[in-house]
Amino acid sequence: MAEHIQVTRALFDEVMVPNYAPAPIIPVRGQGSRVWDQAGREYIDFAGGIAVNALGHCHPALVSALKAQADKLWHLSNVMTNEPALRLAQKLVDSTFAEKVYFANSGAEANEAALKLARRWALDKFGAQKQQIISFGKSFHGRTFFTVTVGGQAAYSDGFGPKPGAIDHAEYNNLESLKALISDNTCAVILEPLQGEGGIIPGELEFLQGVRDLCNQFNALMIYDEVQSGVGRTGKLYAYMHTNVVPDILTTAKSLGGGFPIGAMLTTTEIASHLKVGTHGSTYGGNPLACAVAEAALDTINQPEVLNGVLEREKLFRRELAAINEKHNVFSTVRGQGMLLGAVLNDEFKGRSRDFFLASADQGLFALVAGPDVIRFAPSLVIPEADIIEGMKRFEKAVAQVKQG
Ligand SMILES: Cc1ncc(COP(=O)(O)O)c(C=O)c1O
Repeated sequence: MAEHIQVTRALFDEVMVPNYAPAPIIPVRGQGSRVWDQAGREYIDFAGGIAVNALGHCHPALVSALKAQADKLWHLSNVMTNEPALRLAQKLVDSTFAEKVYFANSGAEANEAALKLARRWALDKFGAQKQQIISFGKSFHGRTFFTVTVGGQAAYSDGFGPKPGAIDHAEYNNLESLKALISDNTCAVILEPLQGEGGIIPGELEFLQGVRDLCNQFNALMIYDEVQSGVGRTGKLYAYMHTNVVPDILTTAKSLGGGFPIGAMLTTTEIASHLKVGTHGSTYGGNPLACAVAEAALDTINQPEVLNGVLEREKLFRRELAAINEKHNVFSTVRGQGMLLGAVLNDEFKGRSRDFFLASADQGLFALVAGPDVIRFAPSLVIPEADIIEGMKRFEKAVAQVKQG
């Protein structure tokens, strides 16, 4: 019986598949940007569940939407539609370039749908030879076999047997490397406008515009993976809105549900028309609970004061990080946008991001890494100023701890 089970970190190693290596503590409660573990120790959350808890923990609007929906209707499957899904779809259409929405349960699934759609669109319109998908080194698009193969790190897709084919990788922010690969046989180019897992690497405007132009030239779809950069994280609802570059397909997840699993693929009516009845689907996609929470999250985040607040918080983060760096000289630069920032370790500390991550946890702060050289911050979009300042005090102690060895 559940009450008699002693839940400890050691239990993880006994009963869980060992594909994760979770931290030694077990959090049990969260409020805003603070989290408490089993021992009652309090942490400040600069990680946001890896860019997911866009409104912090237990935001009243999300709790209330979830509770209200929980009393009404949980699940139908897609043999019927439901009100929260259609309301959310309408709001996504109203606030983006898109005319059509497909709901999934995660970022990987949203990308899986996007890639399948691109292949089908190309097959229908141009024939079977147009199937090449181009993505970029260091990109991350999820862990299904298709999306992980499309992702830019072979180490994640090796060792599972034959990979899906017709996938090539160009170098991010290097238009020439894309030009060398793209042709009339390319059906889609997929990229993150701001690479997340790869190290918080912003796409240069000229590069993004160049990708758009090449896609137009070769009749290839441009897919923006905004799973990490989307839903207000960069200070606009989607990162593409900072530029004039508009994709053909956009995927979104993470912050969309504020902590409740949901993903979505957004596209135009013409492109969407190629996923005909029965060509793709999901039991849970568009689940009423998920969509009700996501609707509340979108309503709350898609407000000028919240989006502008993200940019204000970015300034404070950058100021605090600059002050820490002035004292301790550990970063070469801080890059990213809004509440998706990466402090890049300088030569002396290269390869040691995990040490900073562990020292931060020791000091009562959740941070993240983005590869071995970057400490990543992806906190709540509405994190209070006082929590940023207190979190940075803890981060400075963590930096000092790493320096002392
Ligand atoms: C850009 C990007 N795409 C896709 C994914 C995969 O999302 P999920 O883990 O929800 O499948 C991630 C997750 O980190 C991501 O950062």
